[in-house]
Amino acid sequence: MSRIRITDTSLRDGHQSLWATRMATSDMIPVLEQLDDIGYHSLEVWGGATFDVCIRYLNEDPWERLREIRRNITKTKLQMLVRGQSLVGYAHYPDDIAIKFIEKAAENGIDIFRIFDALNDLRNLETCMRTVKEIGKHAQACVVYTISPVHSVQHFVDTALRLRDMGADSICVKDMAGLLAPYTSYELIRALKENLDVPIQLHTHYIGGLAIATLLKAAEAGVDIIDTASVPMAFGSSQPPVETIVRALQDTEWDTGLSLHDLFDIAEHFEQIRKHKGFERGVTRITDMKVFEHQVPGGMITNFYSQLEQQKAAHRIEEVMQEIPKVRADLGYAPLVTPTSQLIGNQAVFNVLLGERYKMVPGEIKDYVRGFYGKPPAPINEEVRRKIIGDTPVIDVRPADLLEPIWEKSKEACKEWAESEEDIITYALFPQVALKFFEWRKTKRAEDVPQIESNDEVRTTAVESKAPVAAPPRMKPPVKPRAVNRGDEDMNIDEIRELMLLLDQSNIADLELQKNDFRIHLRKHTATDTPPASNPFPGAPKVKPAETAEVILDENITEVLAPMVGTFYAAPSPDSAPFVKIGDHVEPGQTLCILEAMKLMNEIKTDFAGTIVDILAENTQPVEYGQTLFLIQKD
Ligand code: CO
Repeated sequence: MSRIRITDTSLRDGHQSLWATRMATSDMIPVLEQLDDIGYHSLEVWGGATFDVCIRYLNEDPWERLREIRRNITKTKLQMLVRGQSLVGYAHYPDDIAIKFIEKAAENGIDIFRIFDALNDLRNLETCMRTVKEIGKHAQACVVYTISPVHSVQHFVDTALRLRDMGADSICVKDMAGLLAPYTSYELIRALKENLDVPIQLHTHYIGGLAIATLLKAAEAGVDIIDTASVPMAFGSSQPPVETIVRALQDTEWDTGLSLHDLFDIAEHFEQIRKHKGFERGVTRITDMKVFEHQVPGGMITNFYSQLEQQKAAHRIEEVMQEIPKVRADLGYAPLVTPTSQLIGNQAVFNVLLGERYKMVPGEIKDYVRGFYGKPPAPINEEVRRKIIGDTPVIDVRPADLLEPIWEKSKEACKEWAESEEDIITYALFPQVALKFFEWRKTKRAEDVPQIESNDEVRTTAVESKAPVAAPPRMKPPVKPRAVNRGDEDMNIDEIRELMLLLDQSNIADLELQKNDFRIHLRKHTATDTPPASNPFPGAPKVKPAETAEVILDENITEVLAPMVGTFYAAPSPDSAPFVKIGDHVEPGQTLCILEAMKLMNEIKTDFAGTIVDILAENTQPVEYGQTLFLIQKD
């Protein structure tokens, strides 16, 4: 008998994949004893997004959650997911924090540390793995699975061998996008089993529906451990259900030996939680399935679709889907997983929307190209590298070697709040969020106020932006003279544009419309028209609603449009003077404003010389895609 052992992911990946990681500790406690009795190989209960979500949205101490689980789980091993040098965050942390984090996680109850790096750059696993080994816990190292010209079975085997040499107690094939097909799974697991003497575990996601067959073929190939979730948290973008796998392997040489009856009792508990909290079931949409076509994980597609929708460019989703694999190839075939999936995806969106590849490049992509995330699996396209960072040197050391220790500084910074070393770690990982949480915790204790409603906003995993980056403005050709009679100054500029277009293309001269509560009157400009003397050109938005002043745009006036939906900042910081004011003369390349779009700060610059005639966006206010930001009279 070569029984397959199972890791249950319900308390980590299961609800992270389907319920935005929103299961609370109190939802888990009643079922912990039953989970402990099942006979699972291990329970994945911590790490990944759970840490961040606990303090950010659930007002829970993640360390207390771990201790609570450990108190109730006495027989089964507890497992966590570590994002290499990024631990449970989104950027690399210095070694002193990584070491403290691993030590404290072990002290509070973790037995098995599953460690991965988004780029399979093994240097990013070194500190965590060494620490896990030193404290005598189980170091499980990941081979992150992806498909590309450089990711052959041999490449994965070589990676696994190096990980074993680094001291890995077991190897996990981590297929976060559900790309691993059944027969490849057989070939890959077979090759790993033939070359390694440590246990091999397979972690995959259901998404396109391959996962059950993929796990069965892995069983045939000799896999030791597989990951599943309780059925209310299975299917869709999560793991396959444990119940199906247990049944499929019953009475075979790989029989799991787990009791279906007991598993259903646990499933009933989670189903009640799901219904009570309005959480979703795992489903597979066509867009999710398209991962087969362009390897872009479903979660990412949904994310980009909503970003494009905000940019009024949802119809360009297919172009973005075609662009993602190209950017990925340019940037050395990084697997698409946090944070590389966001980096590559955002760059693809910029490339499509700006109409020129790498014209606008976020600071994070520059960091990536400079080597601050590690070494990509294949070399970065030379031409693209030059376009992105020019002659700036690329680092060749382990990125964390460049990071100063921050433990002492963090300790000092949160000494008023921290009650334990765990608190200091929480602060070092997420300073702002941690302080808010500590403050909340203190208030709650002092006043015994009821728990604040948790924020429903889904945490996006984009790395927070640091430096503003250059963004070329979209220039529209000079506007032909035309007259607009406005009944209301709040008319959406896009609607006015559309109506103007309609008017231009028609043979009517006048258009009067009742729209919602207000009236708009558009009139074709003719040679006989003369602008009224009092015309407050070009202050269209400042016209009083009662008047119907004409707005005449001069041939030499060029509009600078918002290249994306975002927030308009007139100045580099709240205390500083605005970049430009009305009447200023500007030179080509001069910064006009900052537009914050898709969580990135972008400098908007002018392509030509001229005089600022008007500024049509309000500081710190949202602007629409294509909205006029500035009117500039060209020299
Ligand atoms: Co996963």
